[in-house]
Amino acid sequence: MAGNKSLSNAKKAKKDEFYTQLSDIENELRHYKEHFRNKTVFCNCDDPRISNFFHYFSYNFEQLGLKKLITTCYKSQSRDLFSQNDSERAIWLEYFGDKNGNRVPDPNEIGIHYLNGDGDFRSSECVELLQQADIVVTNPPFSLLNEYILFLHRHNKKFIVMCNHNVVHYTEIFPLIKNNEMWLGYNSNKTVKFAMPDYYEKWDEIVDGIKYGKVPSIGWLTNLDIKKRHEDLILYKTYNEQDYPKYENLDAIDVEKVAEIPYDYWGIMGVPDTLLDQYNPEQFEILGADGIPQYAEELNIAKIGEDWMKRYRAYGGTGHYTANMRSIVMTKNGVPKKPYSRIFIRRKRKQQNCKEYVLEENIPRMVAEGEIDFGKDK
Ligand SMILES: C[S@@+](CC[C@H](N)C(=O)[O-])C[C@H]1O[C@@H](n2cnc3c(N)ncnc32)[C@H](O)[C@@H]1O
Repeated sequence: MAGNKSLSNAKKAKKDEFYTQLSDIENELRHYKEHFRNKTVFCNCDDPRISNFFHYFSYNFEQLGLKKLITTCYKSQSRDLFSQNDSERAIWLEYFGDKNGNRVPDPNEIGIHYLNGDGDFRSSECVELLQQADIVVTNPPFSLLNEYILFLHRHNKKFIVMCNHNVVHYTEIFPLIKNNEMWLGYNSNKTVKFAMPDYYEKWDEIVDGIKYGKVPSIGWLTNLDIKKRHEDLILYKTYNEQDYPKYENLDAIDVEKVAEIPYDYWGIMGVPDTLLDQYNPEQFEILGADGIPQYAEELNIAKIGEDWMKRYRAYGGTGHYTANMRSIVMTKNGVPKKPYSRIFIRRKRKQQNCKEYVLEENIPRMVAEGEIDFGKDK
């Protein structure tokens, strides 16, 4: 009984076993096809028996024009913690493409090798494999996400990695995004369904006997140059003081929605972090993020102060803020507000390839006045 209990506790403690569906991988990787030609791809957190990353690259090997596919399968040293994977030792695989012309990765075409250690992506033997790779692509253990991304960055590797959107606020990762060393992929901040091992005690649905869990705020992080990163966000709002109040402790305006970033404001703007999904470094410059001490210092964000705190509490505000915190606050229409998840940006250039909207009075209407009200509630 005691053994069973410790097994169950161990399993509860480890929540890294969830497996990406092929459709989610295809939806992201279809945007990177030109990057894979003649490249060695490494999936370094992937049991080939269940990883759809291995499936995707082995079945599309010829179409993508890959040079080589390497996969390592992690085998935790603690037997209890190893999921449904039943191999005794950690292994790594290499695949050089189809040999017999059936365009399918047959078992005899895949080289299977044993690792001495557990296949931890940080181990020296996995680092040796990493050095052979041009691009690393996987969904890594989220419990090690920060370390995993910094590890790839330190090894100067190109990557496409599934991640939780919160990663953009990590103290060591945000500066890399700010400095244009990595950015968000195509699918960002979505709820994604993952397959889970049978022993997981919580799940959202079972389909064909497989448990699935829905995980919110999932996206991709990459350092490969992608098209969307060069597309301007088309802006249509003009700046006015009422809709865009300034913060009380930083000389910057607050913008509630990314779509409402005014095209004619050239100072610092605090915008929701979802801008990163549409961020073009030629259009905007990122200056910092709220909640990361380094930027409170650099941008000179003053302390919240007693006055705002008193007004905030008087209006029933219950957030865990204190007068000494150096985090942006504001008052909108007389009400104290604490904006959430803001990053600070500044425009770099005028809107490209389209006229900025200028709403002028006395422009002759193309429709009769009566028609303008068509469809409006009377
Ligand atoms: C979120 S799962 C994703 C699995 C697979 N990449 C996929 O997308 O289906 C992360 C995987 O990383 C493995 N893992 C955990 N710690 C690891 C480590 N230190 N080194 C390599 N892999 C690890 C886990 O066993 C788990 O299977």
